[in-house]
Amino acid sequence: MIKVFAVTSGKGGVGKSNICANVALSLANLGQKVLLFDADLGLANLDIIYGLKPEATIQDVFNGDATLAEVMVEAPMGVKVIPATSGLNEISDLTVDQKMSILNGFDDLKEDFDFLIVDTGAGISTNVMYFNVASQQIIVVVNKEPTSITDAYALMKVMNERYDVKTFNLLVNESRSSNEALNVYKAISSVANRFLTISINYFGFIPFDPNLQNAVLKRTPLRQLYPTSPGSIAFDDLAKRMLRTDAPQSGSGNIRFFWKRLVELSNQ
Ligand SMILES: Nc1ncnc2c1ncn2[C@@H]1O[C@H](COP(=O)(O)OP(=O)(O)OP(=O)(O)O)[C@@H](O)[C@H]1O
Ligand SMILES: [Mg+2]
Repeated sequence: MIKVFAVTSGKGGVGKSNICANVALSLANLGQKVLLFDADLGLANLDIIYGLKPEATIQDVFNGDATLAEVMVEAPMGVKVIPATSGLNEISDLTVDQKMSILNGFDDLKEDFDFLIVDTGAGISTNVMYFNVASQQIIVVVNKEPTSITDAYALMKVMNERYDVKTFNLLVNESRSSNEALNVYKAISSVANRFLTISINYFGFIPFDPNLQNAVLKRTPLRQLYPTSPGSIAFDDLAKRMLRTDAPQSGSGNIRFFWKRLVELSNQ
């Protein structure tokens, strides 16, 4: 059974792609096989963080020019990445043939993965919603900025109202202390408890780590470049938390099911 985690946020630029790229390495270090899907379809990021130069992208799969296995790129420690492209469409704009080609592509995958991690774009576009709803667990990334907090709240509210999603995992990024992170969590969960019927799990925090910014400039993930930096240690903790977290919906434990749900949502 594969565990499917979406990493999402209301506001952009709060650290989703770096979290995905680094926690994938931490999971690989624990012996897990990880597939990362760059689902920020129009604004590919993961390839840059890993310093990869993909020759083909998910767009080639949509066009029928490549299989899913062919577009996968190998990142460090055996992590596999499905790269996005620039200027790609909404899932709902894909033709039936294009959607089917991906579904079949997932069937043809020979490898067994333990984790699929989906790096969504930010905000409440339908693409972001679909990727979140199709995943088994949703990690909402926030930082302490008030706009990031209100946008995260808005995202969870809309996901709950439109798609009946009831459980979210909140991860505080760029935090200066565990207290600061807990205060962010309390601020969001107390408002949610009053006005919404959702439950928000505290999923820990990633400290502000200046080495992460150096790593971004060097196009090498923090976990690889500075494995003992505070951020890297937090990514290792996050990986352990993901390992411990159950994948709730029965029957959803494979990649094909993930895409099938996406297709169904976009056909509604
Ligand atoms: N823990 C951290 N410590 C220090 N800086 C950080 C941290 N996390 C993120 N950053 C900074 O924030 C920037 C944006 O991060 P990233 O690209 O991962 O965000 P994102 O949420 O994926 O953005 P987008 O919504 O545009 O896809 C990084 O390049 C880095 O400079
Ligand atoms: Mg990103």
